[in-house]
Amino acid sequence: MAVAGSAVGIGNFLRFPVQAATNGGGAFMIPYFISLLLLGIPLMWVEWSIGRFGGGFEHGTAPGVFNSLWQKNRFIKYFGVVGIFGPLVILIYYTYIESWLLGYAVFSILGKYASANTQAALQSFLQGYQGIESNQYFSNIGIAYTFFIITFLLNMFVIYRGIKGGIEKLCKIALPLLFIFGIFIAIRVLTLGAPDAANPSWSIKNGLGFLWNPDFSALKSAKVWLAASGQIFFTLSVGIGVILTYASYLKKSDDVVLSGLTAVSTNEFAEIILGGSIIIPAAFAFFGPIGAQEAAKSGAFNLSFVTMPLIFQKIGGGAIFAFMWFALLFLAGITSSVSLAQPTVCFLEDEFNINRKKAVWIFGVAAFILCQPAIFLLGHGVVNELDFWGGTFCLVLFATIEIILFAWVFGMKKAWEEIHHGADMRIPKIYKFIIKYVTPVFLLLILGFWFIQEGVPTILMKNVAAADKPFVLAARIGLLALFITLAALVKIAWKKRKRNYK
Ligand code: ALA
Repeated sequence: MAVAGSAVGIGNFLRFPVQAATNGGGAFMIPYFISLLLLGIPLMWVEWSIGRFGGGFEHGTAPGVFNSLWQKNRFIKYFGVVGIFGPLVILIYYTYIESWLLGYAVFSILGKYASANTQAALQSFLQGYQGIESNQYFSNIGIAYTFFIITFLLNMFVIYRGIKGGIEKLCKIALPLLFIFGIFIAIRVLTLGAPDAANPSWSIKNGLGFLWNPDFSALKSAKVWLAASGQIFFTLSVGIGVILTYASYLKKSDDVVLSGLTAVSTNEFAEIILGGSIIIPAAFAFFGPIGAQEAAKSGAFNLSFVTMPLIFQKIGGGAIFAFMWFALLFLAGITSSVSLAQPTVCFLEDEFNINRKKAVWIFGVAAFILCQPAIFLLGHGVVNELDFWGGTFCLVLFATIEIILFAWVFGMKKAWEEIHHGADMRIPKIYKFIIKYVTPVFLLLILGFWFIQEGVPTILMKNVAAADKPFVLAARIGLLALFITLAALVKIAWKKRKRNYK
């Protein structure tokens, strides 16, 4: 349930429909399913297995897990730093965005944006809230900051209570609740018919067609394949470093094959069935094909905080549905953000022998400070920079390292036995070949193509406005400093461990 909570996130309801609609509709699902079968599911099994294996050596984070898999190599633990750095960087901006969802859930009930009933007005409401402009809705960032503090403290409280008493409890309540909200909203949207009498062709049926009718020419584009595989990583939370940390708490006899598949299925239901039935069909029914296209291209924030509230204003009982929408996203967000915090906390506990409560305090103070640039420099490209390194690049890099380590260094024969330890079912034999050859080659190809297409322009700051370049550069230096600090902590921890053994 905790892994499913980590996987089902904001990405399922916002990122997925946007990616599908802008990358060939139904045809997008071909690379998507191929990526699910060749990357997502194998990596899910690998991460569960190596996490449980590392847990047997009392290591719950990537530096220690990697070290357990390749004990003779002195340097491999430093590659594991990516598995703490990545989730920490995502957490820095994810928590802030999560707090907007809480804010908007409250606003929906209070009717705070009821007077903003055009696209432009809702945009201005959002910008005022974010502190980007001062307007009739908000004079400063105070309210947003208050919701951030509440969200941050809520996250820390759950983490402080521990895996069983905090994270598992949260997921057991939040996950079913968000599914109920999601099903309610999906049914409401799917029964809208053609709400605009002047445009009878703007129907939900055609909206579903808009999202799902395949454009097979998209399959020839490398960009579409990258988008599909990137979505698989993000949505399943694989390659981040959190699943192996959760799995490190398992017993050797626990089944990872079925648990891994269950987490994948739960996530895919939320993504394809619920995520695919809400925003795009609804945007089509109210704004038509051009409006839906524009909405999909305007990005996840606009869709969530501008388009959806506007749609709910046009539906009977809209305030309740708007509340459910933001509450659903908030719940999906918090079950993911607590998982992003777990690797750092676990690292402090395992490698420095700090007790959980103290580790959460240290983490809380550090994370709070690290969140500030994402809040106050939001309009300056800092969040994009954090998302590029933490939410995109590190995932593919980490997945490539872990699968090569497991299948090639640890060895496929042992790896296959390790995966099946305690398993009720056998994985089809073809996956032995896939894990050893296909997934690593697929990953290296993605890494290469993606580096050329997106990595180089991003590193050279090609898409950053001139005025924002100093901020982005500062963020980059900050990230480098963070990575070096974490690597230094790994070095200190291992030095200490060696001394203790002597
Ligand atoms: N897997 C999480 C999401 O989809 C991070 O949002």
